[in-house]
Amino acid sequence: MLGQELCRALEAEKIEYTGTDREVSILDPEALSSYGEKHNPDWIINCSAYTAVDKAEDETDAAYSINRDGVANLARIAEERDIPIIHISTDYVFDGTSEKPLNEEAPTGPVGVYGASKLAGEESLRRIASKHFIIRTAWLYGQYGPNFVYTMVKLMNSRESIKVVADQIGSPTWARDLADLIAAVIESGSEKYGTYHFSGEGQCSWHEFAGEIFRLGREKGLVKTECNINPCSSGEYPTKAKRPAYSLLSKEKVSSKLQFNVPDWNTSLKYFMNDYQGLHSRVSNWIEHAEYDLETAKAMTSSGRYLYVCITCQQSIEKMIKAIYEFRNLSVPRIHDLLRLIDGLSILPDANTNTYLKDLSYYYIASRYNERISKLSIELNRERSEFFLEKTEEVIQWLKLKIPYL
Ligand SMILES: NC(=O)c1ccc[n+]([C@@H]2O[C@H](COP(=O)([O-])OP(=O)(O)OC[C@H]3O[C@@H](n4cnc5c(N)ncnc54)[C@H](OP(=O)(O)O)[C@@H]3O)[C@@H](O)[C@H]2O)c1
Repeated sequence: MLGQELCRALEAEKIEYTGTDREVSILDPEALSSYGEKHNPDWIINCSAYTAVDKAEDETDAAYSINRDGVANLARIAEERDIPIIHISTDYVFDGTSEKPLNEEAPTGPVGVYGASKLAGEESLRRIASKHFIIRTAWLYGQYGPNFVYTMVKLMNSRESIKVVADQIGSPTWARDLADLIAAVIESGSEKYGTYHFSGEGQCSWHEFAGEIFRLGREKGLVKTECNINPCSSGEYPTKAKRPAYSLLSKEKVSSKLQFNVPDWNTSLKYFMNDYQGLHSRVSNWIEHAEYDLETAKAMTSSGRYLYVCITCQQSIEKMIKAIYEFRNLSVPRIHDLLRLIDGLSILPDANTNTYLKDLSYYYIASRYNERISKLSIELNRERSEFFLEKTEEVIQWLKLKIPYL
């Protein structure tokens, strides 16, 4: 979520960058080292993390290896290359008993595995990399990842009432604001290394946050029906991991030392919901067409037009892929080759899906040459056509997962 938002911010500032995801694992020191050799970076920014707060309670080793050991690996690269590293941490390093906004010196005391593993990552970074920025943030939401805003909008559209925790206080952070802060630090070449707190200005409970999402969601047509947003206590909504009751971060240091203007959380939410509304209408256009094609393909199977079933399945998948281009604010290519389209998004289909997409593309392209149509039509039959439909539905579901608000 933050990584993709950061790419957008760096592009806007015309800062040259190279981004990676799991293909260069932070758990693999050699891969990191050769990546460093290849790109010779001036800065390292680590947006990767193990972020599944509840799952971390059962997957302690995975959480520590990514959030502590992976960070240590990156820190070593930064130190060897004598370059600064920016790392993101969390308000969950605190125990939640404070009654006033937490500054960077406030005592830590995580109440769950995720917070403890993130704290261990901070400690490794401080020990290994002399030129480090640690930015602790909280309640992050943004366009590119599953997050509280998307979850709420989905729930509000499907239920008459929902309960939201009202006894945890903090403040939400729009990933774009955080990405802008990171870009500003790099742009200014800041050497004011250290730990900083950053979240939206102001404070609220999750319940108040949900109330504002509902109000704006209704105003912008994203929430289609009425829904009662009822407060509840953390006790009424038990989760595997405990969360801090109070984790409001003080932004005093980031504004005074880095001179960064911290936006109010509710102003940022308004901007986000505006974007979400625009995005929704552009993306849904492609999705509607993809679904229409799929329905058409089903109808064609029953009338025995098998070649056209396969062409229409191809078109349906193509439109779904284009919805993802739209969702990621990328210009939508005019090509029809499914594998090349997917390649442009850097998403990896499994081997079966890959073969299926290749087959579909083959029929699609071949069907455009008249002399091959009759031969292809002979190859296709009802059974194969039904297989096409089943597989297409599966691929469309897989692609839909790439648009986290759906
Ligand atoms: N989300 C919040 O509410 C929140 C609040 C406070 C602080 N933070 C911190 O903010 C930062 C950004 O969070 P986010 O919400 O943007 O996280 P996110 O969407 O979960 O992204 C984390 C990314 O790290 C990748 N990753 C996991 N293990 C990796 C590995 N070994 N090598 C390379 N990449 C790996 C993940 O890949 P996969 O998807 O394949 O696993 C994922 O793409 C994190 O440091 C997080 O702890 C988040």
